[in-house]
Amino acid sequence: MVAVMGGWYGGRPGRPVRPRTVVIRTAIGGLGFAACLALGFWLSGGQWRSGWAVLYVALAVVVATGLEYRRQRRWARAHNDALAWELVTGKPGTVTEPENQHQHSASQHQDVDPHADPTEHWEERYAGQGPIWSGRVNTQLSAVAAALPPGRALDLGSGEGADAIWLAEHDWQVTGVDISATALSRAAQAAAERGITSERIEWIEADLATWEPTGQYELVAASFLHSRLEFPRTAVLRRAAAAVAPGGHLLVISHAAPPPWAEELDEHTHHFLDPQQEVAELDLPSHWHTVLAEERTRPATGPDGEETELTDAVVLLRRS
Ligand SMILES: C[S@@+](CC[C@H](N)C(=O)[O-])C[C@H]1O[C@@H](n2cnc3c(N)ncnc32)[C@H](O)[C@@H]1O
Repeated sequence: MVAVMGGWYGGRPGRPVRPRTVVIRTAIGGLGFAACLALGFWLSGGQWRSGWAVLYVALAVVVATGLEYRRQRRWARAHNDALAWELVTGKPGTVTEPENQHQHSASQHQDVDPHADPTEHWEERYAGQGPIWSGRVNTQLSAVAAALPPGRALDLGSGEGADAIWLAEHDWQVTGVDISATALSRAAQAAAERGITSERIEWIEADLATWEPTGQYELVAASFLHSRLEFPRTAVLRRAAAAVAPGGHLLVISHAAPPPWAEELDEHTHHFLDPQQEVAELDLPSHWHTVLAEERTRPATGPDGEETELTDAVVLLRRS
């Protein structure tokens, strides 16, 4: 019954499924289920034999609504993981609708002109409804940064601000830089909602390809600083590394491999660096030391709602 009621999903192409959508659809599924029970009751003569019947019906509605909620939430998470993946690589994340096994892309795959204007490109990405990232700190960032003494931190490509906010909440003085005004305004709003003042986080709208850090930082972090456009990523990281104070760190977190559900990737258009390659490509001067260069996994939800893992490359370098 629940499966029949809930044979529809909130995965509009190119849009994340928001928690509100999940709740609304669950409520509609639950009401539909209750309506079916009421219809059955009416058709079978409409006599309540005892108070127990009312209790059983109420219990059935509660259980069915709970199951529906779990199913909608699982599918929403799978859809959003696939969409996040596509935003980074441009490769469609395929999500299967359990009811009819119809396969569709989390967002409509569009070829991107690598020479397109980066501000327009990222604004277009962020400009749809609602946040496009989870709002949660990246697992690897919190795991690594938790062991570092707080100081000044620079977050490159800070997006909607989850990492910067986590850092500020853990006593760092943070600067987040991103090219998208929409992402930055969402980040500022999220920070304000958590009571973080502008004295603890500064947001800078800038193109990292040309932006020069002016201050010094105990931590420069870059989480998934990937772009489908031409982007001088290594030069950006090297320039930011020069702004790390002696004793400070550079933390680079990136995708080390496609997710298990990704379609075969075109190696010519997407190239994953393993942690050692990342270190080699950065080729920082001899006063830099590698603290960490390893692959780490984190849980994710696959297209069919299956629990799976994504592999990240985590590189932490220390300036002496
Ligand atoms: C894949 S997102 C990662 C966002 C965030 N670090 C996170 O982990 O959720 C990449 C971010 O880099 C930003 N970005 C891409 N190219 C940029 C550029 N040239 N200058 C500044 N920011 C850029 C994008 O706007 C986007 O927010």
